[in-house]
Amino acid sequence: MHLSPQHALQQGLPQHYIGLMSGTSLDSIDAALIEITPSAFPRLVATCALAIPANLREQLLTLCHSDHALFSQLASAEQAFCELQARAVKDLLTAAQLDDDAISAIGSHGQTIEHAPGGHNAGPAYTLQLDNPSLLAELTGCTVVADFRRRDLAAGGQAAPLAPAFHQALFQGEHQPHAVLNLGGFANVTWLPAGNSMPLGFDTGPANVLLDAWYQRHHIDALFDREGHWASGGDVDPLLLARLLSEPFFHQPPPRSTGRERFHLPWLESHLTGQELAQDVQTTLAELTARSVAEGIQQLARHQPFRLIVAGGGAHNGDLCRRIADNLPQATLATPDAWGWPADWIEAGAFAWLAYRRLYHFPGNLPSVTGAAGPRVLGGIYAP
Ligand SMILES: Nc1ncnc2c1ncn2[C@@H]1O[C@H](COP(=O)(O)OP(=O)(O)OP(=O)(O)O)[C@@H](O)[C@H]1O
Ligand SMILES: [Mg+2]
Repeated sequence: MHLSPQHALQQGLPQHYIGLMSGTSLDSIDAALIEITPSAFPRLVATCALAIPANLREQLLTLCHSDHALFSQLASAEQAFCELQARAVKDLLTAAQLDDDAISAIGSHGQTIEHAPGGHNAGPAYTLQLDNPSLLAELTGCTVVADFRRRDLAAGGQAAPLAPAFHQALFQGEHQPHAVLNLGGFANVTWLPAGNSMPLGFDTGPANVLLDAWYQRHHIDALFDREGHWASGGDVDPLLLARLLSEPFFHQPPPRSTGRERFHLPWLESHLTGQELAQDVQTTLAELTARSVAEGIQQLARHQPFRLIVAGGGAHNGDLCRRIADNLPQATLATPDAWGWPADWIEAGAFAWLAYRRLYHFPGNLPSVTGAAGPRVLGGIYAP
């Protein structure tokens, strides 16, 4: 017999949720199936990453950088994106040998097209995720929770980062302070003081977005610099680094969040003299990520020792992780695998967990991170 989520929770039975995440890197749709038991730690059960095909990637990138997109273009990208999400869900359920009625809800983040928590040209704050939860519910037969960010924004918050509440659920309560660093297209950090004090966190700036863009400009073999091999062979250009670090975002006090609308290839090019070697630019970009991450974390750590849990695709970039470690001598680097959560799956897991929070009317944001007026229940529910 299939129990409703409410009955399952009352009886202390495990429930299953799926999180769908495709971040700013536009590399893949990540689907994570998690198990939640009221008294236990969220457990990662199965995963599926579906690469975003080149034509959809192009469509989405065009929308991200366009200021005059047509509704029909939005609708076409949204439909293709949603169909890919539905395929990821089907593949995930097959891998886990579960039926759709075993899923309490899917948490769909959607694809961020533009994030402007401070508004644009004195207009209202907005954050736009391409998403069609109605179609996803139709295609999968599952309850879908979506539109996670706008309630925090409505309460005066940045609507980002949202993963820190999940980082708190996974990693809080250790004897030593912990920082969780997500190295996706952008980097965000969550500071978890020892014990159970309030977490802090914010976006530190670009993680891979500029590294990927510059690599793609000079290579046709891959979408990113595997293991940071190219970057590791160049030299940091100190003058370029100083110019890049003078960007006001790096000096803005929290709460703060950012995206492709601020950090993009033309932004980088506006700081180049044209005399630089391409490889040295890549090295300098890696150092930019490391320095901005380290300076952000140091504001929170204030030079005390802590453990640094590194997650997101950038965790596989040995060159980048070495640079971060060199800039944070008091940090001990750790991988989240020790908690049963491989580096690539925390973001998707977070949106599965946020769907669970929504069904039970639990808050999903951390006002100490986003700056919202208070805790808020995030997202809307789309019945199957
Ligand atoms: N083996 C690797 N070596 C170097 N870089 C890697 C490797 N694997 C992944 N990456 C980097 O990680 C990026 C993808 O990371 P991830 O999926 O966490 O980012 P994202 O999709 O932007 O997610 P989010 O915005 O949710 O954090 C790739 O674009 C690439 O730059
Ligand atoms: Mg990704």
